[in-house]
Amino acid sequence: MPPKPTSVIAIYPGSFDPITNGHLDLIARGVKLVDQLVVAILRNETKQPLFSVDERMAMCRDVLGEFENVTVECFNGLLVNYAAERGATLILRGIRAISDYEYELQMALMNRRLRPDIETVFLMSGEAHSFISSRLVKEIIRLGGNIAGLVPPVVEARLKERFLGEQK
Ligand code: PNS
Repeated sequence: MPPKPTSVIAIYPGSFDPITNGHLDLIARGVKLVDQLVVAILRNETKQPLFSVDERMAMCRDVLGEFENVTVECFNGLLVNYAAERGATLILRGIRAISDYEYELQMALMNRRLRPDIETVFLMSGEAHSFISSRLVKEIIRLGGNIAGLVPPVVEARLKERFLGEQK
């Protein structure tokens, strides 16, 4: 059996387009379980994101500044390869509802097949956040709805700027 790592690094991967209060809640709880948590933004050229990777990283860094042991990075290619390069032994993911489960199970099992030494750990979303998604937040602001409380204030300002042309 390989020796237990002395410092536990976890990767919290995602699109974060943009980061929501649901992500923040998961990060705040996840970081307590590990020595270092890496919020890793996928540089996915096939998706059409609202914000560039640099913009998403800047927003994440802005809102995660208070956490000493959280870093924000981006990655290309297979998540498990990036996790291994980064010295991580855990992948952290959130589950909001049963509808997330199938997709998450499939990814976790595939990732385990690719690299059995990296475990996926799931945290349940806080009940106050279980209905929040980046996709819905973007839809709501695009259609003129109120997104206060769904995303951090800096992200709300960036979304308003993008959709409503309001200045920061
Ligand atoms: O927040 P998202 O968009 O649901 O995150 C999905 C993400 C980034 C975790 C997933 O698409 C991913 O890990 N992509 C990297 C490529 C990869 O490793 N694919 C195989 C997954 S089994």
